[in-house]
Amino acid sequence: MRPLTRRGFLYASLTNAALLAQGVKSPGAVLNPGRLAKFVDRLPIPPRAVSSGGAATAHYRLAMRQVESKIHRDLPPARLWGFGATSPGPTIEARKGQPVTVEWVNELPRRHFLPVDRALHGLSGTAAPDVRTVVHLHGGRVPPESDGYPEHWFEPGGSSVVLYPNDQEATLLWYHDHAMAITRLNIMAGLFGLYVIRDEVEDALHLPSGEYEIPLILFDRNITEDGQIHYPVSGNPARIWVPEFFGDAILANGKLFSYHDVEPGQYRLRILNASNSRTYYLTLSAGARSTPHPFFQIGSDQGLLAAPVELTRLTLAPAERADVIVDFQELRGQNILMQSDATPILQFRVGTAPGARAFALPQRLREIVRTSESEAARTRPLTLDDPSDSDDPTSMMMPMLLNGAMWSAPVTENPTLGSTEIWSLINLTDDSHPIHLHLVRFQILDRRAFDVFTYMNTRRIRYTAGAVPPDSNEMGWKDTVRAYPGMVTRIIVRFEGYAGRYVWHCHVLEHEDYEMMRPYDVLPANGQHDA
Ligand code: C2O
Ligand code: CU
Repeated sequence: MRPLTRRGFLYASLTNAALLAQGVKSPGAVLNPGRLAKFVDRLPIPPRAVSSGGAATAHYRLAMRQVESKIHRDLPPARLWGFGATSPGPTIEARKGQPVTVEWVNELPRRHFLPVDRALHGLSGTAAPDVRTVVHLHGGRVPPESDGYPEHWFEPGGSSVVLYPNDQEATLLWYHDHAMAITRLNIMAGLFGLYVIRDEVEDALHLPSGEYEIPLILFDRNITEDGQIHYPVSGNPARIWVPEFFGDAILANGKLFSYHDVEPGQYRLRILNASNSRTYYLTLSAGARSTPHPFFQIGSDQGLLAAPVELTRLTLAPAERADVIVDFQELRGQNILMQSDATPILQFRVGTAPGARAFALPQRLREIVRTSESEAARTRPLTLDDPSDSDDPTSMMMPMLLNGAMWSAPVTENPTLGSTEIWSLINLTDDSHPIHLHLVRFQILDRRAFDVFTYMNTRRIRYTAGAVPPDSNEMGWKDTVRAYPGMVTRIIVRFEGYAGRYVWHCHVLEHEDYEMMRPYDVLPANGQHDA
């Protein structure tokens, strides 16, 4: 993966001119995190959201506010945007079948502290304020009016009440800002948190819980010498948007290089990649050069897998989640490092005193019926496009697109409620794109290499290899799929839940904010609306 370029386009060095033109205070130099002391801070655990409703109808009021939090012991507090008093925000715990209402409130300042590009996604010339937010529950099967449609943002002083029915299986979801053309900055600022759904299938497995269940939200940042978040600009004042963001510091739950004390027993890690662009390749080992310690993945985006999958390295693209069991029993007294490739993230300090109860990992977790291709009413070929051209430097700032269409073009994806479709993602770009559909869960059918050049010239697919089945940890229910460059990635989706307007998009937030997002409509089952 090219760390800082897209088709050889280099981020402009951090000229402050564009930032100053935005009224953003001149940033300090970006810090080399390697200089900081390692493992001096405890891993923070986000607080649990407190309901003001009764037992049957939980209600939460979560206000987006500017907060301060130290990213590392030896840095001054960072200005962040969070929910209530924290970023990441409080974790909402829900049970299947028990609806929750949330009032999302915008109590943010009127000026953004990150560089706003006012010309993205058709917003130039409109009255859209710099600070605008709308919250989406990622992976939630929710009615369209509660889904956080990107154009339904509200300003400081505004709020919105939504209903989350929780009519879906136990899993780890997350809530995050989804405001049009500024999601990358609002999430970078800290506007996200976890949302856990539990059910009886999960209960029956008696998985490690309480302090033995650890949420891990991973995200990368660039930190200035004075402890603040730094987000780059392109150096072109007319289009300060950058095509990707990769930070030098990888934070877990908001801390850089933290540690967590564990007993020599089994733990359940609920891992979320909340990064803008970075994919993680996670390993656990006693040190950079020692053999990786195996662990078991038991769940993916939309809940438990059919059976545990043993791994030594876990790939997680932006917005993907993994439910993992780690056994520290044989690692008494050792320090175990979680790394992404060679970058240290977090240290587990395994104690010597026994304490954790023994737990036997079940060999069957839940029943997952694979959706048969014959159930699909239709197949939609959908391209992922990058019109930038290495021979034409002026094209470098052009947006990437889904199926050649801008956000503002009429809806083209309009499945009928209850129907099943195959979406065939034809990746014509040089990048991997994590593609996410709102409302639904889906299964990955396969990925298959094809000749991009032939496609560009003839619009015909010439496969160059056989179809590759999904990885064993991708065989469960998903809501985000990695579409690899030069491959056709096929997913099979049943459009269950609600009719109405939703979106699908790339979850690299820089792409999503600049046209790699499309509205889609779920049509009522007996409607006359089909085009
Ligand atoms: Cu994680 Cu459209 O969102
Ligand atoms: Cu993308």
